[in-house]
Amino acid sequence: MEKIDVLLVGGGGREHALAWKLAQSPRLGRLYAAPGNPGIAVLGECVPVQPLEFEKIVRLAGERQVGLVVVGPEAPLAAGLADRLRQAGIRVFGPSAAAARIESSKAFARELMRRAAVPQPEHARFRDLASASTYLDGLAARGIETAVVKASGLAAGKGAVVCDSLEEARTAAREMLVDHVFGESGSEILIEERMEGEEASFFVVTDGEAAAPLLSAQDYKRALDDDRGPNTGGMGSYAPAPLLTPELCAEAMERVVRPTLRALSETGAPFQGCLYAGLMNTTAGLRVVEFNCRFGDPETQAVLPLLDEDLLELFLAAAERRLEERALRWKPERAVTVVLASGGYPGSFESGKPISGIEEAEAAPGVTVTHAGTARREGRLVTAGGRVLGVTATGNSFGEARDRAYQAAEKIRFEERQFRRDIAERVVESRSTAGPTMR
Ligand code: GLY
Repeated sequence: MEKIDVLLVGGGGREHALAWKLAQSPRLGRLYAAPGNPGIAVLGECVPVQPLEFEKIVRLAGERQVGLVVVGPEAPLAAGLADRLRQAGIRVFGPSAAAARIESSKAFARELMRRAAVPQPEHARFRDLASASTYLDGLAARGIETAVVKASGLAAGKGAVVCDSLEEARTAAREMLVDHVFGESGSEILIEERMEGEEASFFVVTDGEAAAPLLSAQDYKRALDDDRGPNTGGMGSYAPAPLLTPELCAEAMERVVRPTLRALSETGAPFQGCLYAGLMNTTAGLRVVEFNCRFGDPETQAVLPLLDEDLLELFLAAAERRLEERALRWKPERAVTVVLASGGYPGSFESGKPISGIEEAEAAPGVTVTHAGTARREGRLVTAGGRVLGVTATGNSFGEARDRAYQAAEKIRFEERQFRRDIAERVVESRSTAGPTMR
């Protein structure tokens, strides 16, 4: 069997989960990561190169003669890393900059969905405050009292403001268009209908034409229990999402994924990589909240432990445009991920706190710990970011997975550790089954 060396770009919890699953492939030769993190360093060689240092990444991939580059985060994809690698003749799992516009330009994504008749909320786009204000006046005249204001460009997950009143929407529009709180990313905004309903993350691995759906997941964006507090990068997740029944997954493939992939191909930008649809099940049916051009974080940490397939083979098939459209195999289990964060996150926090208890936590059945904001200083593992670690546990039910995840989380110690106590609480009683047959 020919072994393949892989370079993984990124260094967060999502990338550690990808590295962990890739390392289970019998086809994996050496694993490199740029820049990786102390958790990934146990699985492969971490090289101090940042995801936006394109020339260094291309050189590294060439020097180490890797057979595949896997790009984790959106920023290098949006800036054209996959294009640069392909130009250099290097195989890559990740979309071109043109295809990544599905995440890097919310205006482009909404227009693409309109052309492809993909179900989405009512919306309009603006580049100046006067036009945005006139539109909000029009909403008021129709008796509409709420809205969502979004920066069109990338804003590190902070670019969508869910507004309880049109006054709040006006303020958000001013902050983006006039005060430039998101810089160039907010020079164009969307004002969208505020939809009511639960949201879930739906992922497919695709070679641009064929698409293999992964298990869906739900994440927790707010810092505090009961969805209070500020938005974060994600404080926990669980998979599969009972909200997305096999019927809704099939509908998502038919009405969302396939028309979107076709429309991208028609614009000359076929999407190769992981397409992530944020879906809401509203009273009017399934709607797309947003698309992302990569795996979700921390959803990936919950989804991949359930995958009963070779992830490297799947990525190679997508990168070589020979993906088979088939239902993937999944373990009939549930997974829950609890994120351990630094005290104060997502506001200011201190770093450099010694971490203990990871080995003890991982000794329990079904538990894996992914690193996100950690570093090694003088041989000691210390905190080095807002989201520090993700504790994932699998089990035969959400109850078992959740109990295991929290018992393991309690074993990991660092000063001012904070985490939500209600991850997956709402699904513990759920009797819905995993979706190994979904398509
Ligand atoms: N979990 C949300 C994201 O990855 O964007």
